[in-house]
Amino acid sequence: CLWVRNLRLKRRLPGPFAWPVVGNAMQLGQMPHITFSKLAKKYGNVYQIRLGSNDIVVLNGDAAIRQALIQHSTEFAGRPNFLSFQFVSGGKSMVFSSYSKQWKMHRKLAHSTLRAFSSANSQTKRAFEQHVVGEAMELVQTFLRLSRDGRYFNPAHEFTVAAANVICALCFGKRYGHDDPEFRTLLSRLDKFGETVGAGSLVDVMPWLQRFPNPVRSIYQNFKDLNEEFFNYVRDKVSQHRNTFSPEVTRDISDAIINVIDHGKDSTLPKDFVESTVTDIVGAGQDTVSTALNWIVLMLVTYPQHQAKLLEQIDKVVGRDRLPSIEDRSSLACLEAFIYETMRYTSFVPVTIPHSTTADVTFEGLHIPKDTVVFINQWSVNHDSQKWKDPHVFNPSRFLCEDGSLDRDLTAGVMIFSTGKRRCIGDQIAKVEIFLFTAILLHQCTLEHSPAQALTMDCSYGLTLKPLPFSIMARLRGKLLGLVS
Ligand code: HEM
Repeated sequence: CLWVRNLRLKRRLPGPFAWPVVGNAMQLGQMPHITFSKLAKKYGNVYQIRLGSNDIVVLNGDAAIRQALIQHSTEFAGRPNFLSFQFVSGGKSMVFSSYSKQWKMHRKLAHSTLRAFSSANSQTKRAFEQHVVGEAMELVQTFLRLSRDGRYFNPAHEFTVAAANVICALCFGKRYGHDDPEFRTLLSRLDKFGETVGAGSLVDVMPWLQRFPNPVRSIYQNFKDLNEEFFNYVRDKVSQHRNTFSPEVTRDISDAIINVIDHGKDSTLPKDFVESTVTDIVGAGQDTVSTALNWIVLMLVTYPQHQAKLLEQIDKVVGRDRLPSIEDRSSLACLEAFIYETMRYTSFVPVTIPHSTTADVTFEGLHIPKDTVVFINQWSVNHDSQKWKDPHVFNPSRFLCEDGSLDRDLTAGVMIFSTGKRRCIGDQIAKVEIFLFTAILLHQCTLEHSPAQALTMDCSYGLTLKPLPFSIMARLRGKLLGLVS
């Protein structure tokens, strides 16, 4: 029939047959990244699917993804103009806006400000690390309190608060208690952010679904509401900063950005970009880090033999009289290997935020027109059997050389922060946080799971993969240490 023939003639890339109206939406399943990898076996690493009215190119495997994002970095650096993206950060998000001259300035400002507060010089590095150590010790105490009398608890929310506290202290100079009800409510709503913007979410590719009274409509409305609520929260904080701003003292990231945008001589970014930049940073830096910590703890309790090996190395390198610090990183190769293997194995950001092409591009002999939506399947890089031996086995020692040191060539092959022009700008901050939180938790406690609950790697899909709720108990190892000076 005619529409099938037209569809075939229009198709520039290989890919599965797409049904009218819905395209391939019904075939994505619960775990779209796994479906994308299966389709790659049939159609190759670069193929096309159709979701609603959008043709979408899906990139898979180490070679194709790196080639696209590095060799053709500008062409693949756009973002689609999805409606939901316009609700983020008051409609001025850097993370969700497409490639442009203004976006480049916006990204540069966010990146240099993050660096200035985490790694610019030895003083800021130390201040940031001390801050994370303080937060990690709060977490240890919270874990021990929740484990009193042999109780088991779900650590997910405590990780959310801990990660949010690190980023809020950087941005606003303020942290919150683990029991602060207002903060907990705000964070628990943010938890749902990734469901809407994750690749394969249908609200943007089939916007007509909103016209019907169905669950998609409420997902959409909730997304709008949670972004508004979060943006208003940040706007309040920024406005307090503006009211008490002094050019002589830069208290935190909010001040630093106000200084550049409101008072900088060369800034051409509009004033309301202050609020959006801070919202972007707090939003991007919170859910990702807490999800990473959640997975790490799940792997630690699932593999007690690995946990025991880590405790042994930590005791040998750090001893029992001080807390681990970032300087111990190079001596704690086993822990680094465990963290990299958790990132690789779980690939908890399975597909990046959707990209789009900024120009026509010919890639691997295939023509991809400007403004095509592109999904980048990071999971497929981390499970590419051409690159990894037994990719479906959890084996931290794959990252260790014979002499016990970390194999840096191999760790560089893990893809969780993406690559190219849209690569995550918080990767260094995230790595410091994840290392210190894990090292300090293990130095102070052993962790075990509830025997009443079978452990599973099952998870829910979104921008981040989240493990199903699980319960753990923390036992103090020796005496509780205070902060290092
Ligand atoms: C973007 C991963 C932590 C700030 C991204 C992207 C990924 C990612 C996959 C999308 C890249 C793309 O679309 O190709 C992660 C992971 C983290 C983490 C796995 C933790 C383990 C952080 C932190 C911050 C941050 C702590 C800030 C403090 C950002 C920003 C972007 C971004 C601003 C947008 C970049 C752009 O669109 O140009 N991140 N991230 N991230 N991340 Fe992260």
